[in-house]
Amino acid sequence: MKPIGRCRAHTNIALIKYWGKRNEELFLPMNSSLSLTLDAFYTDTSVTLDDTLSSDIFYLDDVLQGDKETLKITNFLNLFRTAANIETKCLVKSYNHVPTAAGLASSASAFSALAGAMNEATGLNLDLKTLSTFARQGSGSATRSIYGGLVEWHMGEDDISESSYAIPVDDATWDIGMIVIAVNTGQKKLSSRVGMKQTIETSPFYSSWVETATSDLTKMKDAIKEKDFITLGELTESNGMKMHATMLGAFPPISYWEPDSVKAIQAVKEIRETGIPCYVTMDAGPNVKVLCRQSDMKQIEEKLLNQFKPEQVIPTKVGSGIKVLSDSQWNY
Ligand code: DP6
Repeated sequence: MKPIGRCRAHTNIALIKYWGKRNEELFLPMNSSLSLTLDAFYTDTSVTLDDTLSSDIFYLDDVLQGDKETLKITNFLNLFRTAANIETKCLVKSYNHVPTAAGLASSASAFSALAGAMNEATGLNLDLKTLSTFARQGSGSATRSIYGGLVEWHMGEDDISESSYAIPVDDATWDIGMIVIAVNTGQKKLSSRVGMKQTIETSPFYSSWVETATSDLTKMKDAIKEKDFITLGELTESNGMKMHATMLGAFPPISYWEPDSVKAIQAVKEIRETGIPCYVTMDAGPNVKVLCRQSDMKQIEEKLLNQFKPEQVIPTKVGSGIKVLSDSQWNY
């Protein structure tokens, strides 16, 4: 029997954003961040260690991937192979239940699921905190997808890889939900990796961004302790906008927004003005995510459907952390 590991990981949306690395090789961020794991978007991944293979093979949604994509996976798997002291090549099969690269953080669930599956296959048995430091080195945001609920990613110290990990902050079972307004689910033009580098190098607002993100995080953790949804939402919206403002200051300027993003932001503002608390955030893509109370979700959805098509309005509950899947739970 060849060793095999299977894992499901959900994606997450940052409420306090990560936008920039202080060490690109180790994926060490400029500031700590905080996210909400989502139930509706996830990746299932299986890894088989196979002595007969001469190189790694990677299928995404049953499509064999080319050299560039496979190399990213190989580099990531090497972290585990080094730790386990093995050289065995792997067959990786991933199924994305996320519109890939639409700013819905598919890399977060992807690398988190791959980390969980490889941890199983190799029998390394890394604890979740250590596993989050591995996931981070596939994609920064993946470090937070190891856990469910509200999750903090500690920036860590200097160039010390082990010091930058994720921890669960709150299970977010106090009436929290999110609605994704899918403006455009096509591939994004500028990857977050390139976008954040360009922002650090050229935006005169970058140092203020790091300062403000750091103080927003402190305030948000206090709001979470007090289960203060309004402050949580206000900080979420403000922090996201400040990240996008910092990008606009880059040269050349970076904007992921499309006309329908503005339409969605405006729609949410109008709903809020009717007395329903709801707040927007956006990532490296045109889609708009609405943080709201789960108990208000139906009402907000109905109002959004006046302006957007049903398939564009995707409600989701809070998601759980990574889950190892058994053979019988693997439905592909
Ligand atoms: C805007 O984690 O995709 O979604 O570490 O280069 O893979 P890499 O970037 P990635 O960036 C996510 C950026 C963001 C904000 C966030 O998720 O914190």
